[in-house]
Amino acid sequence: MLMKKIFIITGISSLLIVSIIYLLNPAGIYQLSEKTARYIPHQEVPSGTASLKAKDCGACHMEIYQEWQTSLHSKAFIDPFFTAYLKKDKGDPTCSVCHTPLENQSPIILSSESGSYDDLETVPNPDFDPDLQKEGVTCAACHVKDGVIFGPYQEKVLNAPHPVAYDDKFLSKALCKQCHEVPSKDFSLMNEGICGTGMESNTGIWSARGFICQDCHMPTVNRPLMSGFPAREGRKHTWPGAYSTSQLQKVFSFRAEMREDNLTIRITNSGAGHKAPTGDADRFIILDFFWISDKGQKTQLESIEFKRQVVWQPIMFVLSDNRLSPGESTHITVTKPSDSGTLYVNGTYHVMTERSFNRLKDNYDLYEGLGENLKNEWNIQRPFIEQQKIDVH
Ligand code: HEC
Ligand code: HEC
Ligand code: HEC
Ligand code: HEC
Ligand code: HEC
Repeated sequence: MLMKKIFIITGISSLLIVSIIYLLNPAGIYQLSEKTARYIPHQEVPSGTASLKAKDCGACHMEIYQEWQTSLHSKAFIDPFFTAYLKKDKGDPTCSVCHTPLENQSPIILSSESGSYDDLETVPNPDFDPDLQKEGVTCAACHVKDGVIFGPYQEKVLNAPHPVAYDDKFLSKALCKQCHEVPSKDFSLMNEGICGTGMESNTGIWSARGFICQDCHMPTVNRPLMSGFPAREGRKHTWPGAYSTSQLQKVFSFRAEMREDNLTIRITNSGAGHKAPTGDADRFIILDFFWISDKGQKTQLESIEFKRQVVWQPIMFVLSDNRLSPGESTHITVTKPSDSGTLYVNGTYHVMTERSFNRLKDNYDLYEGLGENLKNEWNIQRPFIEQQKIDVH
């Protein structure tokens, strides 16, 4: 009874505070930043290369090109979830700043005199390249600036047909944070921002060991940059994430203990350098624990769902968030099963709820024109742990 009262009172006061803030709209909440208000300015094709297109870089850097093609970066514009959400958001031009980051990839030039969302100006872009747009986060978005191709090596050691230069951002998180960290000030009133992967990665076991994004998302490899050239220490351009079963399997570790009447299962985020899931707020992970007795009888024990609940209107804020930070653990306790047997877990990654999915399908042409194969590739439910045994101590 008391709990219920407290709940209602906090609910009403939160609503009041939110409404007041909304009405006052203090400077800053809706401000755009360098990151969200403009594209990477128009880029010329570096000498010695045919165009800015990944395909043309791929004529020489073949393996890197093939890896990039399998990554989500190459699909950032054609991704059906992105295109449907873009329709829902009425073609908001600021979305493209990260999904097709070069001005050359955009039909419009975007500017905002005051840095505010309310005075975004758009003019047609005479140099728009629709083929480059389809490449999403293309090579040039990370590597090209002012006619020079930047990379992780000191230029003295290279023998490249195009201008090259060293930039230390390739060897740090800075490059990734450009798009994988939207500080709260940009869009909302939140501590970590809606896409807070960069910030989430600043604490915990992996950051303490000096790990950067590339260590887990771009595996090291020793090979020539182009056939016929000397082998160098470099990295695969694969960026495995939530669409990679093996990457997902690295996240959780489990430990179970049987005490008199109870079975306690400890769940740790031991493999992700940020919260899991991270990024897009629609995503959630469900772990299902079950018991199979020695006679083959299956009993469902308990499920846990790692997710955020975000209020989007009138302003964004996080209502709840039980995702585990890097290295963090939680546990669930269930009654000890009556028969002796074995503990198992299933894990499923969800890109969004069925409800959001149906809304996108019914109103924003999600899946339209996609063949059956592609519908599978862009499935919203991805089982990644299937009947994994957990030892009970
Ligand atoms: C005609 C072949 C060719 C084309 C086209 C080409 N490259 Fe290169 N690139 C090379 C060679 C060769 C090297 C140096 C290899 C060496 O010395 O080991 C190099 C080096 C590099 C480096 C390392 C730079 C550094 O300082 O760390 C990067 C990054 C790079 N290229 C990216 C690109 C991108 C992006 C494109 C497309 C816009 C591209 N290249 C197009 C042949 C090419
Ligand atoms: C210690 C290894 C590790 C580090 C460091 C790391 N990641 Fe991850 N990342 C993972 C694993 C494992 C997954 C898959 C589990 C998951 O979905 O969170 C993942 C998933 C992701 C995803 C997919 C979204 C999701 O959660 O489903 C994105 C985006 C991502 N990482 C970006 C980054 C960025 C950006 C950085 C650096 C700021 C980074 N990661 C640092 C291991 C790491
Ligand atoms: C999201 C940013 C990003 C994109 C997109 C990208 N790269 Fe890279 N690239 C990197 C990073 C980071 C490194 C540094 C890896 C390291 O530490 O060696 C790198 C390194 C390289 C190197 C040096 C060799 C190596 O393995 O380190 C070449 C060559 C290169 N990239 C070419 C390409 C080409 C070609 C494409 C497009 C097909 C591309 N890159 C797309 C981030 C990117
Ligand atoms: C120019 C913006 C940009 C930069 C720079 C960038 N990313 Fe991304 N990244 C994106 C976008 C946009 C997507 C989502 C594509 C889509 O819509 O499917 C993405 C997707 C990913 C994913 C897959 C997410 C998933 O759900 O599975 C991983 C992992 C990832 N990026 C890691 C990195 C790392 C590591 C770096 C730094 C080396 C980096 N990114 C740099 C924009 C960027
Ligand atoms: C600051 C950079 C940035 C901006 C601006 C941005 N995105 Fe993204 N978006 C990302 C990154 C990075 C990812 C991939 C990983 C993640 O979930 O964080 C992503 C992922 C997504 C996904 C999930 C794709 C998938 O396959 O699961 C959707 C949908 C999406 N963005 C839609 C949008 C829309 C619509 C807008 C504009 C309202 C927008 N984005 C603006 C960086 C950005």
